[in-house]
Amino acid sequence: MSLVVFPFKEEDPEVLLASVKVALAHPRVKEVLCVGASEDHCFRAVSAAAPELTRTYGKPVGIIVQERIGEMRPGKGDGMNTGLKYFLEETDHRRLHFYDADIVSFSEEWITKAEEAADEGYQVVRHYFPRSSTDAMITWMITRTGFALLWPRSALPWIEQPLGGELLLTREAAEKLFADPRVRRQSDWGIDTLYTFAMVAHGLSIAEIYIDAGKLHKLYGALTDLKTMLIECFSAVQGLKGEAVPEGTMHHIEYPGPVRQEMKERIGYDFERTLWLLRENWTDRQVELLALFPREVREGLLTSRQYPRFSFMDEDAWAEVYRVLLAHFDARDADWAELLFKLWIARVLQYTTAVALRGYDYAMYHLHRMVARYVHRALVGA
Ligand code: DGY
Repeated sequence: MSLVVFPFKEEDPEVLLASVKVALAHPRVKEVLCVGASEDHCFRAVSAAAPELTRTYGKPVGIIVQERIGEMRPGKGDGMNTGLKYFLEETDHRRLHFYDADIVSFSEEWITKAEEAADEGYQVVRHYFPRSSTDAMITWMITRTGFALLWPRSALPWIEQPLGGELLLTREAAEKLFADPRVRRQSDWGIDTLYTFAMVAHGLSIAEIYIDAGKLHKLYGALTDLKTMLIECFSAVQGLKGEAVPEGTMHHIEYPGPVRQEMKERIGYDFERTLWLLRENWTDRQVELLALFPREVREGLLTSRQYPRFSFMDEDAWAEVYRVLLAHFDARDADWAELLFKLWIARVLQYTTAVALRGYDYAMYHLHRMVARYVHRALVGA
């Protein structure tokens, strides 16, 4: 009935192969496909193991290099779209599951819960799981904020993890996504944004299911690790800003369970190293571009060249900054890219010290309320 696809790039083959075995052992799964970004060491390890796995489980295990389908930087988008294309053109399975290749806690439950929601008639099933209060800073500050400001009446702002790579698509959902040129074009980190957007734009019914064990993926060092992802995720939202989205999507979110202490205590990134980034890589042109932003933001960020400042970047300042960025940001311009990065860092540092420091439960409640306040602002003005 179902195909499971794992897109990957330079992952630990042990982790990926363990997940492949979990998928193969599941009664609903008829085939597994691994899509590599290139023929790296992980690709070679999985290729070597695939024939034996196919024999043992009596189900095909494929491994292919991703095709060049899109128009942006070749990245995760080409990987996922290659899986989508394979599912539609080479198989007649009814359902497609995507899972990231770095999930150390992958289990049968991920597949079973998704299949059960699809059995209830949902066309799309999205997994979500607890994340640290200082993790997911692109999700909260870029994607959910943008969805709230741009499409406040749609289901988009309420999707728990719009950048999540773990999902199930029925065949009709997969057809709609692959037929959408906006989705096929998005070969980079923007793909998760595009899949989420397209699900809602095409009016597909969506269930979000809660996976208590979470992903336990590794956390980040200084936020530099996320710079490319940040830029590509913001550009993806910006590129969609004029697009229409329907209001009445059928959308159900499973109520989350209690969060383990270990997750509540996790710190998402290296605060001290990130602080330093506000001082680095300034150019005269970035200073000029700051003229487009509100005075406190401009002055605050300029002071950061000597001494890190960020308390000015609260929720309201960020909404104004976001609107300026939507109107003027140019991803091909290195100074704009660096400025977006600094503005976002100031936002993340402000949130960390003013909100996350008060504790996990307070922070998660605050972030959800923040999205609701942005929706309100977009609907009734502020
Ligand atoms: C996000 O913001 O969700 C990215 O995965 C980085 O944590």
